[in-house]
Amino acid sequence: MSEPTTAPGGAVPVPAVPVPAATGDLPLGAAAPEEVLRPHAEQAYAGELAALAAGDDRPRPPQWRMSPSAVVTYLLGGEAADGTPVTPKYVGPRRLVEVAVATLATDRALLLLGVPGTAKTWVSEHLAAAVSGDSTLMVQGTAGTPEEAIRYGWNYARLLSEGPSPAALVASPVMVAMRRGSVARVEELTRIPSDVQDSLITILSEKTLPVPELGTEVQATRGFTVIATANNRDRGVNELSSALRRRFNTVVLPLPASHEDEVEIVASRVARLGSSLDLPPVPPAVEEIRRVVTVFRELRSGTTEDGRTAVKSPSGTLSTAEAISVVTGGIALAAHFGDGVLRPSDVAAGILGAVVQDPVADAAVWTEYLEAVVRERDGWEDFYRACRDVVAGRAG
Ligand SMILES: Nc1ncnc2c1ncn2[C@@H]1O[C@H](COP(=O)(O)OP(=O)(O)O)[C@@H](O)[C@H]1O
Ligand SMILES: [Mg+2]
Repeated sequence: MSEPTTAPGGAVPVPAVPVPAATGDLPLGAAAPEEVLRPHAEQAYAGELAALAAGDDRPRPPQWRMSPSAVVTYLLGGEAADGTPVTPKYVGPRRLVEVAVATLATDRALLLLGVPGTAKTWVSEHLAAAVSGDSTLMVQGTAGTPEEAIRYGWNYARLLSEGPSPAALVASPVMVAMRRGSVARVEELTRIPSDVQDSLITILSEKTLPVPELGTEVQATRGFTVIATANNRDRGVNELSSALRRRFNTVVLPLPASHEDEVEIVASRVARLGSSLDLPPVPPAVEEIRRVVTVFRELRSGTTEDGRTAVKSPSGTLSTAEAISVVTGGIALAAHFGDGVLRPSDVAAGILGAVVQDPVADAAVWTEYLEAVVRERDGWEDFYRACRDVVAGRAG
């Protein structure tokens, strides 16, 4: 900023006031990496990715940043050749990750299937980051996803003034990935209307994307592949056509196998989220995390962990992802409104919100679980009281 100088004659010139642009007076795409609310995997784990790639002497498929074996290490955790620790991103069966990575090295695309919250999106992002160094070539599938989002669209101003030309064409993320030879991601594939889904068939089988308006085509270069995710629960919304299904290798991501695995996932994600949100530090509350995971697993499976008591399952999924949100929300409560220690009362409201999706049926399921299971359990007295208070509207 320069000081306003006094002009001859004593008049003070008005300093030029910057006119805010439509983008809120910041150039598009200029946020400093440390200010970004959620960095992409390749930004957040740039150090690990670089160390793995540098120390990797195994053969790499064309265009890959590292070998398939290094990609698996990146996902499951371990150590790079120079000793850089690699944090586990995914907790689950090694074989399953190996199959997923091996698929990407073939000419078949990868479909990650599973119930909500089983880390399909998460795994897809990390695979793209490790294989191509770029997880952002992504199409979000919804009921309204148009064909242009998968193939290409037009800049209408240019189209009208110049007619169809390469400069007027707006490439989709899939088209960009085909040209660069990298991974394209399609999220929630089965939410996309069937006819739009089918625009992937030529791309995946012929590895080409015709552009009839320009009398040309974009041929995929080596390294191009697609990772799609789809939700078990959407089955029947828009069935994957058999023609398309044949182009995918399907890997089903399971719910965490054991209580311990799930506690580990929640604890590590909560720690990472807490630091990226700059929440005041709250000591790791393994006790409370265990409790949330126990409640979620028991309600999900319909039986208590000792197998003795049957419980009814509520309508929601009660996924690991929701357990992560409940604990993160609890930590924010404890940090800002509590005594800095995660207590039963900090997670009780979050649990109620996750369990009771249908205000009548789920509320009955929750009350029954509370009275039959929580109330009777040793060491759960405070939690029982906190939950009762929330149900009765006495929380806080
Ligand atoms: N097995 C797992 N290993 C590591 N993280 C997991 C696992 N299951 C769930 N998560 C966590 O759950 C969160 C949500 O996962 P997400 O990929 O959005 O689920 P989906 O796309 O399957 O609905 C992520 O933050 C992820 O870290
Ligand atoms: Mg998802």
